[in-house]
Amino acid sequence: MIKPHGSDELNPLFVYNTEQRHALVEEAEGLPSILLNSAAAANAVMMGGGYFNPLAGYMNLADALSVAEKMHTVDGLFFPVPVVNMTDETVEAGSRIALRDPNVEGNPVLAIMDVEAVEAVSDEQIEFMAERIFRTLDENHPGVATFSKLGRSVISGPIQVLNFSYFQTDFPDTFRTAVEIRNEIAEHGWNKVVAFQTRNPMHRAHEELCRMAMEQLGADGILIHMLLGKLKPGDIPADVRDASIRKMVEVYFPPNSVMVTGYGFDMLYAGPREAVLHAVFRQNCGCSHLIVGRDHAGVGDYYGGFDAQTIFDEEVPEGALELEIFKADHTAYSKKLNRVVMMKDAPDHTKDDFVLLSGTAVREMLGKGIAPPPEFSRPEVAKILSDYYQSLDS
Ligand code: ADX
Repeated sequence: MIKPHGSDELNPLFVYNTEQRHALVEEAEGLPSILLNSAAAANAVMMGGGYFNPLAGYMNLADALSVAEKMHTVDGLFFPVPVVNMTDETVEAGSRIALRDPNVEGNPVLAIMDVEAVEAVSDEQIEFMAERIFRTLDENHPGVATFSKLGRSVISGPIQVLNFSYFQTDFPDTFRTAVEIRNEIAEHGWNKVVAFQTRNPMHRAHEELCRMAMEQLGADGILIHMLLGKLKPGDIPADVRDASIRKMVEVYFPPNSVMVTGYGFDMLYAGPREAVLHAVFRQNCGCSHLIVGRDHAGVGDYYGGFDAQTIFDEEVPEGALELEIFKADHTAYSKKLNRVVMMKDAPDHTKDDFVLLSGTAVREMLGKGIAPPPEFSRPEVAKILSDYYQSLDS
């Protein structure tokens, strides 16, 4: 199986030894503590599950700046985005502290941290990082808005993770760590595995992208890997996406060819940089390929439709990743050919030859109880989405 990023073995920061973990939970009660922001909590969950291998904890300011600038830490480790714990709480360098979870009632301890450094971060440094990560400083960009309000101290150092926040309890069938996914891939005996990143219910274009990648690569299986963390308002909640994806897989894919799983991270909306992060953590999951299509991890019109593909050619150094990218062109149903195609494979088509619906148009239809056409959405998927949209009105 493909090696994890940056090390021979995966090194998850969750404390798997039960006795040791219980002792740490007890110790945490006597430690000074801070309440994390959701972004730092999501980083802890990802490090806990081995997704951000080989990181041992939160980055310091020099590494965060260096990673934002050139996707490498000061010591030369390739990493696409800063993994930081930025806060306005008072923390002492050299202390051992408990990190409390903002997303679970009662704010239980999520992790313990050995604080190596506490560094003030200036407005200029925040802007510098935001501009590099998001390619914009527009406060209307949801990622920029979140990042610029995280806090003015970067606290760095190793962590020990004690649980997986709300993800394991809220999504027991879907939330998986990178460790579990690697193990499951090994159990299947799969070697070539294509990951499909998604934060949406899967429509026909998504479904066919998976099928095309699987066929063209001769893959053994597909990992549908959905984001379970926070999204911007208006995006579809994880439980609804999960149900519709599971239904689609159950009805339209051969048994034992697809793993439907999810990971606990908040959407950054960082387009190209987030696509590279997606590649890093799918390699850590044991996948050999990642599908990157149109406007991957994008929002609004901040990124060119295929910027998330070109970054792999222009900014990711040769050999930085072992996982390969399956680049997908804009995909849609062709009325002429009666099937979903990549547009580049239908050069004689005009726009009108495709069934193209904007996200807004689909939402409006579903809200009115009108199912999108079967060329766009499987009826089983449309039903689950339509029930959800109509429940919003009642
Ligand atoms: S993402 O933000 O999680 O990337 P989404 O769930 O919409 O968004 O997309 C999942 C993957 O499918 C991404 O790689 C995206 O580029 C790709 N994709 C979605 N729709 C299309 C389409 N019509 N044509 C080509 N690729 C697409």
